[in-house]
Amino acid sequence: MSRIRKAVIPVAGLGTRFLPASKAIPKEMLTIVDRPTIQYIVEEAMASGIEEVVFITSEGKSAIENHFDYDFQLDTVLNKKNKTGLREELNKISNLIDIVSVRQKKPLGLGHAIWMARNVIGNEPFLVLLGDDLVMSDVPCCRQMIDLFDKVQESIVAIQRVPMDQTNQYGIVEGKAAAIERTYKIDNMVEKPALGTSSSDMAIIGRYLLMPDIFDYLGRATPGHGGEIQLTDSLMELAGRRGMYAYEFQGKRYDAGDKLGYLKAVVDFALRHPTLGQDFKEHIQKACEKIG
Ligand code: G1P
Repeated sequence: MSRIRKAVIPVAGLGTRFLPASKAIPKEMLTIVDRPTIQYIVEEAMASGIEEVVFITSEGKSAIENHFDYDFQLDTVLNKKNKTGLREELNKISNLIDIVSVRQKKPLGLGHAIWMARNVIGNEPFLVLLGDDLVMSDVPCCRQMIDLFDKVQESIVAIQRVPMDQTNQYGIVEGKAAAIERTYKIDNMVEKPALGTSSSDMAIIGRYLLMPDIFDYLGRATPGHGGEIQLTDSLMELAGRRGMYAYEFQGKRYDAGDKLGYLKAVVDFALRHPTLGQDFKEHIQKACEKIG
């Protein structure tokens, strides 16, 4: 049985939905409570057993690479000041996970970004995590998908139900319930269908567990929705060839690439924070009383 050891995290996007905040700072580096959003994504991968992360980057994203690198100067200063806990926390990720960066030289779309990882991934199933989608859950979303993969041994996309008037914002999946709880065998997938053209409310969120054959399709993919090479189109081809599952994960997803989604994530993650949570809750309660 294949082990899932590698995860691809595309971070090349411009982040136009988050301007002006994302002009000089990658949107993935915007903070949720005390760490950048990208750290939550990498921590989810790590907590799911991933050993190697492949960032697909572009110009202006070096802050992300630096964030996960070992910082000799900072480490020396913290050591001198006896800040052991902080040192350990900072070094935990760089010690536990290998990070590889691949440049996507042209913004040709998500499908093209994933294709850039083909040489690092090789011939093994792998995960894809999109940086905009944060998931709060008891069992990490990727771990839930790996557990399902152990049973089905085929590609899986994570889904959630969305209101029918929002289906044009997502990749939409059609399928039939499989024998395993919360799991559907996929019949069809469409990237951002026009409203009224799909009867399904099952939207892909940014977690995929893919068989390496996906690269065969991505390598010859042509532009789809929005003139970009879409991952969903190649997924549909792969699903037709060898089967694919949609999995309604357990947990709450936040669109951290959207201003309101980001704010909701900040509030919910702050409320659950081990040291700040209680004080923050009291603040929020008082603020709500004032609003009435
Ligand atoms: C991407 C995918 C889409 C998916 C979405 C989830 O779209 O192409 O299928 O539903 O992520 O966040 P994007 O939001 O990058 O346009």
